Amino acid sequence: MIRRQLFNLLRQETRLSSTSTGLRGQHPITKDKPVLHQYPKIDPMTLVGNQLEEMVGEIHQELENQLKNDIELGKVSKYYFDGQGKAIRPAIAMTIGHAFNAHCGVAENSDIIAKQRKVAIVAEMIHTASLYHDDVLDRAETRRGKVAVNRQWDACKSTLAGDYILAVASKIMAQIRHEEVLIVLSQVLADLVRGEFQQLQNKADSSERFQLYLAKTFNKTASLLAYSAKANGLLSSSYLKSPEEVKANADAAYNYGRSIGIAFQLVDDLLDFEASSEQLGKPAAADLKLGLATAPVLFATTKFPELEDMIARRFNKPGDVEKAFEFVLQSDGLDRTRELAREHCDSALSAIEPLTDSKYKWALASLTDYCLNRLK
Ligand code: FPP
Ligand code: MG
Repeated sequence: MIRRQLFNLLRQETRLSSTSTGLRGQHPITKDKPVLHQYPKIDPMTLVGNQLEEMVGEIHQELENQLKNDIELGKVSKYYFDGQGKAIRPAIAMTIGHAFNAHCGVAENSDIIAKQRKVAIVAEMIHTASLYHDDVLDRAETRRGKVAVNRQWDACKSTLAGDYILAVASKIMAQIRHEEVLIVLSQVLADLVRGEFQQLQNKADSSERFQLYLAKTFNKTASLLAYSAKANGLLSSSYLKSPEEVKANADAAYNYGRSIGIAFQLVDDLLDFEASSEQLGKPAAADLKLGLATAPVLFATTKFPELEDMIARRFNKPGDVEKAFEFVLQSDGLDRTRELAREHCDSALSAIEPLTDSKYKWALASLTDYCLNRLK
């Protein structure tokens, strides 16, 4: 549930490490500062959960508003908006928005917050629409422990329902009435499709293969977080006079979203090897079964070069999936993947370091711990 606490393990409070004036322009984001690892641990859901509580109902309403007698389209398009998702994307978008509002001196009753909430809703809708298409492409059996949409209905209806969700999301995007926000959110749609295409490609050279994997990871996962964070950073900066300051805020928000997005996907790829299918709500080793070589496998090729041939044939020979799984467990692939995720979490912390201190900034920082320690 949306109100569910994201991470019980982050209960213990540490002390605030610095004080803040909270005044606009007091801390322009201009230069890198060292990564801060000491900060109060705050669950973003305790801060923005109540603002997201109504989100699922509102999305249902928006989807229904366009429909007359299209009862089935309504049912299919609402199917994955069931309150069972982690709502991590809207939570990050809202928390970023509040953190930059505190940094820019935006009033708590400003109409900017309503616009930032629309960005959060659009982020959740784009993500969910992409899952409708993804489950068709992957011929998924289950998602979040329930029958996948393409099994409950069929590929055509699922694809069209995904298109319909995007159409309704586009209308909400336009209602934000901010040209650059519209441009950056539209970029996410292009990136998602490019990422899915990149996933179909293969490279013979191992370093090019890793570059392609990182590009795919950005496009499929991090782009949505990066650009929805940027959109809300831009909205927070609406009343700033200095274009340099606006750009610095937009860049910092983008860099946070990009880095935490890549870290999230790296951990996801790790959990495909470490977590059980019950924990994941979908089969374990799903990526290998789909022919995909993610970071743990790519790293494992150093110790087990025989993986190269299996990657090239997309693990399609009987026994490939089981062998590749074993090789990964016997290699340092999982440790190196976790280390890379940690580095991206450090980049995320660096991006928000120059922000005025606020509970929202600490919640963004705490998300890096959740990202690295989560079990599903
Ligand atoms: C999950 O991948 C899928 C995505 C993050 C994006 C999928 C994007 C498309 C299908 C392109 C079309 C885009 C739109 C906007 C309609 P996964 O299979 O790795 O994860 P999973 O285990 O959750 O299925
Ligand atoms: Mg999938």
